Amino acid sequence: MPVRFVTGNEGKVREAREYFADVEAVEQIQYDYAEIQHDSLAEIATRGVREAYAAIGDDIPVFVEDSELAIEALGGFPGPYSAYVEDTLGIERVWELVADEERRRARFRSVIAYASGDPADPDVETFTGSVAGTIVAPRGEGGFGYDPIFEYNGTTMAELSTEEKNAISHRGRALEKFAEWVAEHRD
Ligand code: IMP
Repeated sequence: MPVRFVTGNEGKVREAREYFADVEAVEQIQYDYAEIQHDSLAEIATRGVREAYAAIGDDIPVFVEDSELAIEALGGFPGPYSAYVEDTLGIERVWELVADEERRRARFRSVIAYASGDPADPDVETFTGSVAGTIVAPRGEGGFGYDPIFEYNGTTMAELSTEEKNAISHRGRALEKFAEWVAEHRD
């Protein structure tokens, strides 16, 4: 059975396919579920997957993934507003906000929420991953979103191939747990 990934983000689908290449096919579904405002990423993803599963409605399990970037010196900003800040300020301006700070530590967090069973009252499993790094001036052409300003071990995420990014990234860590779980629970 395919695994359905509800997202409009091609970069995320590319990353997920690396994990499921020999387990299941990852099918991309475009459905714009509501992202509630909440401090908890798990809560945002859980509500989103419930809505998407009920709306898509043919009993084939679906998953969503939500991420955020939290910058220590800015009190965890942009956190749950990461997408909004990328769209409004842009990553160059985010870099400028921290350029003069001594501490430039940041963390990416990812939550995957998977819904199966009765679409009206689904079973939801969540899988998390995170990675700590440093905010730097933009470098690199790969990846997406904040990748050019997030450095891990001397390399920005945008300087890595999909495979290399997955090996260290927040989403890669969550995807690894999720793919293992799917392999164990497949019919
Ligand atoms: P969402 O989870 O798709 O809502 O993403 C939240 C924000 O984080 C968006 O601005 C994304 O571009 C950004 N983002 C999510 N995952 C990554 C990543 O792996 N690298 C860089 N930026 C990311």
